[in-house]
Amino acid sequence: MKRLKIVVTGGSGRVGRQVVACLAEAHEVVNADLAPPAGACPARYVRADVMQLDDLHQAFEGADVVIHLAGLDYDWGCPDEAYINVNTRGSWHVLQAAEAKGVGRVVLCSSISICGLQEMRPDWKPRSLPITEEHENRPVYAYGVSKQIAEVMGQSFARRGRMEVVSLRPLAVVMPETLPGYIDFVDTPDRHWLFYYVTAADLARAFRAAAETPGLNGESFYIGADDSSHPEATLEWTAHVLGDLPADRDKAWFAANPRASVFSNAKARRLLGWSPTSDFNALRRHAGGLEGV
Ligand SMILES: NC(=O)c1ccc[n+]([C@@H]2O[C@H](COP(=O)([O-])OP(=O)(O)OC[C@H]3O[C@@H](n4cnc5c(N)ncnc54)[C@H](O)[C@@H]3O)[C@@H](O)[C@H]2O)c1
Repeated sequence: MKRLKIVVTGGSGRVGRQVVACLAEAHEVVNADLAPPAGACPARYVRADVMQLDDLHQAFEGADVVIHLAGLDYDWGCPDEAYINVNTRGSWHVLQAAEAKGVGRVVLCSSISICGLQEMRPDWKPRSLPITEEHENRPVYAYGVSKQIAEVMGQSFARRGRMEVVSLRPLAVVMPETLPGYIDFVDTPDRHWLFYYVTAADLARAFRAAAETPGLNGESFYIGADDSSHPEATLEWTAHVLGDLPADRDKAWFAANPRASVFSNAKARRLLGWSPTSDFNALRRHAGGLEGV
């Protein structure tokens, strides 16, 4: 594999730190972020605001690949207009600047929130299980809408044909420092949710695979663990949470792994050559020591 120059926007953030560390094992990495990294970082830091095109033109000089993570995450509960402003306009700037600088590939950080199913609205439930990239998206929260618009913008740049654009849709990212809080969340009695997750370490390897894999122009991928964070069989707890199950179910999928995630990672496995390593029962056992997250 050729050593690439990869610019990571948002490389100082929670996901960004892990992505930068994973990429730095094999590539030259630049961290372009509003904020400097909190601790030691194997990447050169450049201050860049994704709302400022000029900052991005400078940061992307000579880059082979840009991984775009910078933005406002759902966890921060930002005002709707801030999500739309930073996550959509910032993504447009990243795409425009990358194209102008002759970058070969942009990997956008989308989200599971694009589908809207995690909003748990009574009017919007899964039409099929597991949920794949073919499933319709109907978000109403500003965060999910901002990610949907960013993916649409990415596809428009993909169609122009001057660079490749790929979107990764991480499920809820579990990090060493957030694992105990995540376990408290999923273990809350009668939690009305879909119990999905991916570890930050597995997600970082997915970003590396997307950065290194040519020929996926315009594709989107759910990036999630094989299993769910619910202790019971998925079709049992899903029937309880959703009230009923969609008729369109992949029986072989849930026969092969009764605790399989409701979101399929089959496309990422097939086209990115990526596979997750986590097992939620093991994460629960290790929650005290946090090994393996
Ligand atoms: N954390 C999750 O569970 C999760 C799940 C799915 C998708 N995502 C996405 O992953 C990406 C990273 O999320 P995170 O959890 O690491 O969030 P984070 O807040 O820890 O990191 C975001 C980083 O972006 C930087 N940033 C914010 N505004 C910027 C701007 N205008 N210009 C340049 N940098 C800016 C911040 O300084 C920060 O370092 C986001 O796009 C988020 O939407 C996160």
